[in-house]
Amino acid sequence: MQASLRKFRTFLFLSSIMLLLSACGRENLTALEPKGYGAEQSMKLILLTTIVMTFVFLVVIIALVIVIVRFRKKKGDPVVTPVQVEGSKTLEAIWTIIPIILVVIMAVPTVVATFQLANTSDQHKHINIDVTGHQYWWHYEYVNEEFTTSQDLYIPVNTKVYVNLITKDVLHSFWVPSISGKLDVNPENINTMFIEAYEEGVYFGKCAELCGPSHSLMDFKVVVVSEEEYEQWVNDMKSFNTDQLELDTVAQEGKALFEEKGCISCHATDTQNYSPGNTPIGPDLTQFADRSRFAGYLEPTEENLKDWLRDPEKLKPGNLMTGTYGELSEDEIDKIAQFLLQLSPSKVTAESKE
Ligand code: CUA
Repeated sequence: MQASLRKFRTFLFLSSIMLLLSACGRENLTALEPKGYGAEQSMKLILLTTIVMTFVFLVVIIALVIVIVRFRKKKGDPVVTPVQVEGSKTLEAIWTIIPIILVVIMAVPTVVATFQLANTSDQHKHINIDVTGHQYWWHYEYVNEEFTTSQDLYIPVNTKVYVNLITKDVLHSFWVPSISGKLDVNPENINTMFIEAYEEGVYFGKCAELCGPSHSLMDFKVVVVSEEEYEQWVNDMKSFNTDQLELDTVAQEGKALFEEKGCISCHATDTQNYSPGNTPIGPDLTQFADRSRFAGYLEPTEENLKDWLRDPEKLKPGNLMTGTYGELSEDEIDKIAQFLLQLSPSKVTAESKE
């Protein structure tokens, strides 16, 4: 009695956790509400497989119940040994052929979808972005437009965009559950896939391959904008030049400090020094103040930014910035923060699409 009560309690506990976790999905971070081509293809395959599996499950359960009920030993039934049957060609054929048919039903669409998603023959006709994974952030080079940025990936709606996946260090995996499939970012080759989003908005992207202590913080955003907004954004980005910004005294001093302290040698703050194929050591900060998050998950508020400058290791263990610059005074931190918060090249921002 005690044992079964304990079992029942465990069951109750686990099922309530399951119920709780099933509510954890987010509308812009789920493969189950597809908003793009790759995610839509995946969803179709998930549905097909679920239908086939449910069919098999129901057939087995119904057969089991029928057998249990019909052949149950009733009170007063004599004890008999059932007739021993072995080897039925018909039955053997049935339970071999049916599973083969079911596998074919699932395999053919899967293989077709895989080949469609891997077809890059029209790549030269579309927008190409070199996406580079770093521990623990993402860098984007807009190859045709000739400029770079980091972390927030801007793409136009209903347009095919090719991403070439490159890594600067270890294996990562590029995944925007609502829009695309998932593809590994390998040290030994460049994987390419296209993404196409059907609805404007901000979608969450994840690194889906364990790549170090801050793997779970290697988040990024995909900002899907209208075609006109995309053009506007590209122009704003390309013409952004911090030397032409009207900065107040504090921010101006921050800009000078940013150069003096050597921050500028790892982080670009505008697009004026573009050189093809050159990825920086640290994230490009050109649109820092327009970002939806920095360091992958922090809101770009003054307080968070100052916390980060004080001790990045606390907020993102294993990042490459820790220990690369000397101690900054509170005054210096304030000035640098004021400068970075002015880096807003465009009115087209993640916030305007949320
Ligand atoms: Cu990069 Cu996990």
